[in-house]
Amino acid sequence: MTDPRIVTAAKVDEDVQYEAGLRPRTLDDYIGQERVRANLQVSIAAARQRREALDHVLLYGPPGLGKTTLAYVIGQELGAAVRATAGPVLERPGDLAAILTSLGEHEVLFIDEIHRMSPVIEEVLYPAMEDYELDIVIGQGPGARSIKVPLQKFTLVGATTRAGLLTAPLRSRFGIVHRLDFYNEVDLKEIITRSARILNVPVVDGAAAELARRSRGTPRIANRLLRRVRDFAQVRADGAITEKVAIDALKLLEVDEHGFDEVDRKLLRTIIDKFGGGPVGINSIAAAISEEKDAIEDIYEPFLIQIGFLDRTPRGRVATALAYNYFGLTAPGRGLW
Ligand SMILES: Nc1ncnc2c1ncn2[C@@H]1O[C@H](COP(=O)(O)OP(=O)(O)OP(=O)(O)O)[C@@H](O)[C@H]1O
Ligand SMILES: [Mg+2]
Repeated sequence: MTDPRIVTAAKVDEDVQYEAGLRPRTLDDYIGQERVRANLQVSIAAARQRREALDHVLLYGPPGLGKTTLAYVIGQELGAAVRATAGPVLERPGDLAAILTSLGEHEVLFIDEIHRMSPVIEEVLYPAMEDYELDIVIGQGPGARSIKVPLQKFTLVGATTRAGLLTAPLRSRFGIVHRLDFYNEVDLKEIITRSARILNVPVVDGAAAELARRSRGTPRIANRLLRRVRDFAQVRADGAITEKVAIDALKLLEVDEHGFDEVDRKLLRTIIDKFGGGPVGINSIAAAISEEKDAIEDIYEPFLIQIGFLDRTPRGRVATALAYNYFGLTAPGRGLW
């Protein structure tokens, strides 16, 4: 499903075309995520020195933060080919077995949305990850026997927005696990400046900073805002993105100073107005605003939690004082008396 919202972190059709060109190829080009980068640099260099396959890598975090990008960067840094597939695409064990047996030594298998793999497929993956072999059962009943097919030593890179949905046995087979965090404004500004250079559009510092502030900590959104503002600059100005052009364009796009749009506001307003600020369960929120529960958990909520507008408690979601202030309201229990 595509989402028409400009500030959604989910990938929309148009992104696919642009993202390929804007994707950093090497660790040096990959901006931000210092801790993850430094750790991967060490792991990759060590594996290369020992002429071994890199340990299996699990990357998790909200959409649009650079998991897919990083998977390809890992391949590039290893000097190895990357084969890509996705959890929902793998229907039968044979599908995965075919891919695994075709991998060359030290190559990378990237499985996107790895939390959406079926249990039978997972079973194939366990011995492949652990011992680089496939267990194939031939025949049925008492005459059935299992044969082992050796595989080349490969690296599995798995990506997921929902690490919590991974089964424990699968998770434990990853030697390297990294969570990607929302980006700070300095990093986002750098990403915007780099993308503008690639797209060949002049952007002043102040404008890049303004876009960075409204990108919800997410490179995918930063790049999308840049493209929209570039359109505006071309049609309503002389093509250059000045601070005024950026601000006017963002106003027309109705992206506010936090990068919120109507759905964010509706979500917060609903918790405040209909549920007394919470705590309220995710299902009730989903029903009240007619959005899918998964979309709320994956896409909308992580950023609102990150910037402290929403709290996730065992009893449900709670709108914080910051959220009340945003609407010019006072949080309950925080009045004068
Ligand atoms: N560290 C980075 N530096 C520069 N650009 C980045 C970085 N991370 C991501 N991007 C840009 O953001 C876009 C989206 O990143 P990517 O597709 O890798 O996100 P993702 O985490 O895989 O998202 P999803 O969960 O939806 O699959 C990329 O095409 C790239 O242009
Ligand atoms: Mg991805």
